[in-house]
Amino acid sequence: MRRVGTVTWNKLFVSVVCSVTLASLATCAPTGSSVSSSALPSPTVPYASDDPNVELWNAHSDITPEAMRGRLGATVLGPQNVMLDLQNPSILAPPSTDHGAVSNAKWPFSLSHNRLQTGGWSRQQNVEDMPISTEMAGVNMRLEAGAIRELHWHTAGEWAYVLKGSTQVTTVTPDGQNYLATVNQGDLWYFPAGQPHSLQGTADNPNGTEFLLVFDNGAFDEDSTFLLTDWLAHVPKEVLAKNFQVDQSAFDSIPGRELYIFPSVPPKSNAQPPASPQGQSPEPYTFPLSQMNATQFPGGSVKVVDSTVFKVSKTIAVAEVMLEPGAMRELHWHPTQAEWDYFIEGTARVTLFAANANARTFDYQGGDVAYIPQSYGHYVENTGNTTLRYLELLKTDKFQDVSLNQWLALTPPQLVKAHLGVSDETISHFRKTKPVIVGQ
Ligand SMILES: *[C@@H]1O[C@H](CO)[C@@H](O)[C@H](O)[C@H]1NC(C)=O
Ligand SMILES: *[C@@H]1O[C@H](CO)[C@@H](O)[C@H](O)[C@H]1NC(C)=O
Ligand SMILES: *[C@@H]1O[C@H](CO)[C@@H](O)[C@H](O)[C@H]1NC(C)=O
Repeated sequence: MRRVGTVTWNKLFVSVVCSVTLASLATCAPTGSSVSSSALPSPTVPYASDDPNVELWNAHSDITPEAMRGRLGATVLGPQNVMLDLQNPSILAPPSTDHGAVSNAKWPFSLSHNRLQTGGWSRQQNVEDMPISTEMAGVNMRLEAGAIRELHWHTAGEWAYVLKGSTQVTTVTPDGQNYLATVNQGDLWYFPAGQPHSLQGTADNPNGTEFLLVFDNGAFDEDSTFLLTDWLAHVPKEVLAKNFQVDQSAFDSIPGRELYIFPSVPPKSNAQPPASPQGQSPEPYTFPLSQMNATQFPGGSVKVVDSTVFKVSKTIAVAEVMLEPGAMRELHWHPTQAEWDYFIEGTARVTLFAANANARTFDYQGGDVAYIPQSYGHYVENTGNTTLRYLELLKTDKFQDVSLNQWLALTPPQLVKAHLGVSDETISHFRKTKPVIVGQ
């Protein structure tokens, strides 16, 4: 996909091409101890375009969007899906900084096939829908009050965020400890790979519950989990009778195939798991994210939860991010972790920088999924007039990022100037502590 070793000379893309020419820049960098503007390298490549590359419209614009940016492009003459073009200005009229081949990194759950059951529904996003998302997958599930996502397990670890209502969860560990909890709106649960669990809508909200599930494997398939009923329907009854040491007739009423999602009576609010000789799990499988105080920044706030505070959540960490209009999650990358984002409200634009002059910009809104492979540089900008809220999920036990601001502020200025030709005054604005969020 990438054209390794090919340098495309184009005024619009020089900022990324520069990295290819580091060696030549270094040879013309000054050797003396003081750096004056006269000591700046003579440009070996043209300067990057001064085009600010703002978004040209938004989902609410009362226009017919055209495939034009400045002098580039032309009107659309053929048929046009105007609703989609309005939602995706960065696709129809990309910033001129976009270039090359970055796979699609946007998936709206609205495009996922929905599995409708009595009592609820579920739809998924995995590597089949968005081939770039190799490390993580997601499911959006709805259960009416009392409805059950049946007892099951799967090969991936499961992290969850309750979008509405509350969900009762149960699990039993390989050591025979058990756990039961009610998870409220904005709170989390996590079940390690292979550990059996159940999910049930409570009566706290008469409409039941809806939640987001995120898995630590991009190939996860919600339709290929191990279900209690499916298993027992495929075991000889003689074996069932022997296994449980009861008469075979005890199993006269087991379902002949899987139930998956089915209606039932809401659990009692004071429900307890059966007493276990091994005791209850000492580590909770749920986490009250909604009760946590956010860290405030000019322009927004962030809550980070990883295994340092939510011990069992060993493969997935979250930053719940809130950005005011115009604010931005700063330019950064995650050193070793893939990122899967879920947008809760507002509108955002994100550019993925994939090295070798490859960069592509996408727009997102509530219900959309973004995926950013390990190490790709990116930002998340609130492009709307309302609050942007999204979940930044990393496949990791420990949340980590590298801040462009901090990196450059803590690198010898001479080195930074040799690359970027910026002034000392400009460098004095770079932040030695991560800004995390930058205001408008
Ligand atoms: C339940 O759903 C109905 C229909 O969508 C809605 O009008 C009502 O506000 C909901 N109730 C609650 C408590 O969310
Ligand atoms: C959250 O902040 C409030 C107000 O500053 C404080 O009273 C409370 O103790 C904090 N809660 C936690 C869990 O830190
Ligand atoms: C924000 O408000 C301004 C002024 O009302 C409007 O022109 C613009 O289209 C709005 N932007 C979005 C993203 O709604």
